[in-house]
Parts: sequence; C-alpha cells; structure tokens
Amino acid sequence: MSEEKDFEKMVEEIQSKIELDEEADFSKKVIDEYRNPSNFGVIGNPDAVGKIKGPCGDAMEIMLKIENDLIVNVCFLTDGCGTSIACGSMLTKMIQGKTLKEASAVTSEKLNNALDGLPENHVHCAVLAVNTLHKAIENLSV
Ligand code: FES
Repeated sequence: MSEEKDFEKMVEEIQSKIELDEEADFSKKVIDEYRNPSNFGVIGNPDAVGKIKGPCGDAMEIMLKIENDLIVNVCFLTDGCGTSIACGSMLTKMIQGKTLKEASAVTSEKLNNALDGLPENHVHCAVLAVNTLHKAIENLSV
C-alpha cells in the first residue's frame, strides 16, 4: 500500500472515531442540529441585533425581524463550537413566529431540554445563545 493510501486510511479511521466519540457525548438532536443547522446566516435590515462574547471567548450574534410584536424572521452567526451551532439552530427554531414576550421567556434550561440535554462542559453554550437572544430583544426596545 502506498504512503498516500496509508495516510488516507488513517484520516478515515480518525474521522470515524471522532464521530463515534461525538455520538457518545452528545444527544442525537445536538448532532443533527450541528450537522444541518437552521437559520445560520444574516438578515438584511434586521429590527434588532444582539451580539455577545461568552466567557469561553466565542461570540454569537442573533438578528430579528419583527412585525406586530411577532418574530417573523431570525438568524444567527457564531464562531463558536459545534454545540453553539446546535444551540443557535434550535433556539432560532423555538422562537420563530413567537411573540417577543414568549421569546423572552426562553431560558437556557428550556433550550438544553429541547436538545435532549447537553454535556455539563457545554451547558454554557446554551447560556451564550439565550443571553444573545435576550440582548437582541433588549436592543429592540431601546
Ligand atoms: Fe464556546 Fe461552546 S460556545 S465552547
């Protein structure tokens, strides 16, 4: 076997090991949202934007489009970990079409539950997502 083939085989083995490790630590929902996120991107002319840098150093941004007190469009961006992508995806789905009051009532515990639970060392990623949402809502009323 050529050295190139050996290297490719090694990369494949490492990748499948990483995937197995991911599946052991994270719920299926987290993995699905991370691999195929909803609402990742930007909105033109948003009515409100919240941006926060979490204690881990990663940032999240949430943009809202509001009509008659309803969230008619929402997008997020993050430079954070895979869990932060899963959190942004699930959170934006949870608040799409909801009133601002309903969106304000979403907590990191509710987001964590919607993702079937995060590993302890990634709970802060849900806190970052929810704090970013609350910041966006706060910025709207200013
Ligand atoms: Fe920083 Fe997840 S958001 S580790």
